[in-house]
Amino acid sequence: MHPIIAPSILAADFANLQRDIELINASEAEWIHVDVMDGMFVPNISFGFPVMNAVKKHTKKPLDLHLMIVDPDRYLKNFRDAGADGIIVHYEACPNLHRTVQYIKELGCRAAVALNPHTPVALLEDIIADLDQVLIMSVNPGFGGQKFIANTYKKLHDLQQLCARKNVELLVEVDGGVDDTNIKQLADAGANVFVAGNAVFSAPDPTGMIAKLKNLSTVSRS
Ligand code: DX5
Ligand code: ZN
Repeated sequence: MHPIIAPSILAADFANLQRDIELINASEAEWIHVDVMDGMFVPNISFGFPVMNAVKKHTKKPLDLHLMIVDPDRYLKNFRDAGADGIIVHYEACPNLHRTVQYIKELGCRAAVALNPHTPVALLEDIIADLDQVLIMSVNPGFGGQKFIANTYKKLHDLQQLCARKNVELLVEVDGGVDDTNIKQLADAGANVFVAGNAVFSAPDPTGMIAKLKNLSTVSRS
């Protein structure tokens, strides 16, 4: 599968958000990753609808919306209306996950489920066939710039096996601590969507870093 680079605007300069979005527009990135945090599901608050609307106004790329909030069902329609193309909910935040996933699809969005580092892939057994995308968290959600957790490789392997057994093909996203030192190995392990916050926006040349990440993940799949 063709790799997708999704820079996370959590690491952008919010005083220059339009500039950073235009940088992504002009880059090889396919998507923009948007991290919404509520201070309840995760110990941090990021931003909500006003910022999302501002991003939507300037972006030419689809929005990959990562909801780190409790009871996301309450806001799914609002987020679709705010311009989300894909909506990622957390397994740990959704007691009626099947209903939530069907609702995301009814809204016309790509349905994705994220797993925290402690949540085994095996728990997706009875929902995987309904999903368009799975996000494996490679850090604990809540903050950018954290250290990559190496057990992610094992989880990607587990996910590949589950998908093969269930005969499903989906987008496999990794989020947290992804950079030019690990992206090739992640692609080799079966990931095809790569979120990168700090790796992109802390680089001296963010556009060049996006191209480098794209190249490293592509080369490894060929
Ligand atoms: C963390 C967020 C990530 C974050 C990644 O909770 O889900 O998307 O922005 O940032 P980096 O790439 O800096 O780890
Ligand atoms: Zn994220």
